[in-house]
Amino acid sequence: MARIAHLSDVHFGAHDPAVVAGAEAWLAAERPDLVVISGDFTQRARTDQYREAGAFLDRIEAAGLATLGVPGNHDVPLYDVVQRFTRPLHRYRRYIDDDLCPWFESGNLAVLGINTARSLTFKDGRISHEQMAIIRERFRDVAKDKTKILVTHHPLFEMPIGESGEPSEAVGRQSEALRAVADAGVHILLAGHFHRSFTQSARRMVKNAGPALVIQAGTATSTRLRHGETQSFNLIETHKNRTVEVAVIGWDGAAFRPGSRASFAFDGENWESAASPSRHPGEGLDLEGTDRELRS
Ligand SMILES: [Fe+2]
Ligand SMILES: [Fe+2]
Repeated sequence: MARIAHLSDVHFGAHDPAVVAGAEAWLAAERPDLVVISGDFTQRARTDQYREAGAFLDRIEAAGLATLGVPGNHDVPLYDVVQRFTRPLHRYRRYIDDDLCPWFESGNLAVLGINTARSLTFKDGRISHEQMAIIRERFRDVAKDKTKILVTHHPLFEMPIGESGEPSEAVGRQSEALRAVADAGVHILLAGHFHRSFTQSARRMVKNAGPALVIQAGTATSTRLRHGETQSFNLIETHKNRTVEVAVIGWDGAAFRPGSRASFAFDGENWESAASPSRHPGEGLDLEGTDRELRS
């Protein structure tokens, strides 16, 4: 069994320090095998915000935990046009990670991070042909019994967002990216960006998705919440028999505690939702949604 804490959209600069401390306390006590942070480390890519985000990562690592992160659209400077177009991820590489294709491998897991944030698009993500080649290459020789996971900030799919459930934009070059994901045999896709928890079999969303379970994280520590919503992250447990359990760990005002939970089993071609106390049996779990305004 392997346990992954999947945090996203921590947004230092628009964060709640008590929630940050709560997340660190939860991680230190639960000690997952890997802490994934799927982008938007900062609110505006400012140096002071990057320093705080870097210190957060340092404290997690000092507690003896492994981390893997990718940049989000908020990690590219928006208003500093010189930085934005000449050195868009200079501060990310300095304070977070110089490696924009981070890799983690253990006895049970093979995890690759890919940067989908771009200077030319304010919010929407994109995957390059070079990155698709990296996805195919990195997973090629991974032992069959390991769970292969791809981490991006932008989800590869259109997502139902907003109260009316209208679809979001898919990542740029979506169909080619999904072909690479299918060729690589990726089992799980982790992403954030919408500040909304969501888990579903990729095949239910698009035809050529390949054998992937799509898991979206909410915002772990940002204050950009609507009334009634809470900060959250996912605890993902993967098992050798290709079952996965996803628990949403939510902030209750004093601590992070387990909330809704869903189980999925992979039959070689599809992930099927196993019996679970999810509010939407058959579709995985779904916390309170956020709308287009909060998409970031
Ligand atoms: Fe974002
Ligand atoms: Fe965000």
